Amino acid sequence: MHIPVLQKEVIEYLDPKPNENFIDCTIGEGGHSAAILERIAPRGKVLGIDRQLRLKQKERLILAEDNFANLKNIIEQYKFHPVNGILFDLGMSSWHLEESGRGFSFKKKEPLDMRYDPKEGLTAQKIINYWSKAEIERILREYGEERRASQIAERIIETRKVRSIENTPQLRAIIEGARGNLAQTFQALRVAVNDELNNLDKALPQAVEILEPGGRLAVISFHSLEDRMVKNFFKNPSFEILTKKPVTPSRAEIEINPRSRSAKLRVIRK
Ligand SMILES: C[S@@+](CC[C@H](N)C(=O)[O-])C[C@H]1O[C@@H](n2cnc3c(N)ncnc32)[C@H](O)[C@@H]1O
Repeated sequence: MHIPVLQKEVIEYLDPKPNENFIDCTIGEGGHSAAILERIAPRGKVLGIDRQLRLKQKERLILAEDNFANLKNIIEQYKFHPVNGILFDLGMSSWHLEESGRGFSFKKKEPLDMRYDPKEGLTAQKIINYWSKAEIERILREYGEERRASQIAERIIETRKVRSIENTPQLRAIIEGARGNLAQTFQALRVAVNDELNNLDKALPQAVEILEPGGRLAVISFHSLEDRMVKNFFKNPSFEILTKKPVTPSRAEIEINPRSRSAKLRVIRK
């Protein structure tokens, strides 16, 4: 089951009030949105976006299967306004790790896919088997901050000369052989496959443009590249920063939900 990260804190900072409208840009299993919907009753609505929807439509919840990089188009299409609050809870869900069968977890034996949206063309398998050594090394270094990026890329190239690399155990063996970090390398591939940093970069300015004055924007990120992007974007005199330091989960939350370990929440008011 997906446990919403920093649920209490997200609600405290977004501060949803009766009849306000919210956009959940990464609705996933809908945990955060369920709490928002309760607060914005009786007439407030949530527009929930995800690259692949796993939820059913319900009262006051409108769903859009799309990329949040298209935020402005989406709200025009659904004529969804005014907007009082926007949430991004970035990255993957427990569903991706545990149930999708798409190779997000190095603990499973699955094909190397890693797409959030199965309609997209680029998979982890394509990156690993067809991209150049320099490109693979770059994404491992940039998106995974992997110190053994060059050694891992080298081994990928050597291995694929003999046979194609198709599943998670094959990749795991290569990373371990190069004494690399499994989590960091898997993260780097996931970020590249889903173009995660570019999507966030495109979405943040659209989000603030859409918000009503006084509207709140909350972003939960899970690695330093994303957090840096959010932090820099929030440094703008027209925003009031509501979280001087990023809000992180309590020890109790981390114990119940280890996935929350690296979460950082930042919130502004327009
Ligand atoms: C951490 S989960 C969100 C969990 C959700 N807050 C909940 O309580 O269930 C992140 C979700 O964002 C989706 N996602 C990632 N990148 C996206 C993008 N560019 N556009 C839309 N959805 C995206 C993923 O498919 C995933 O379901």
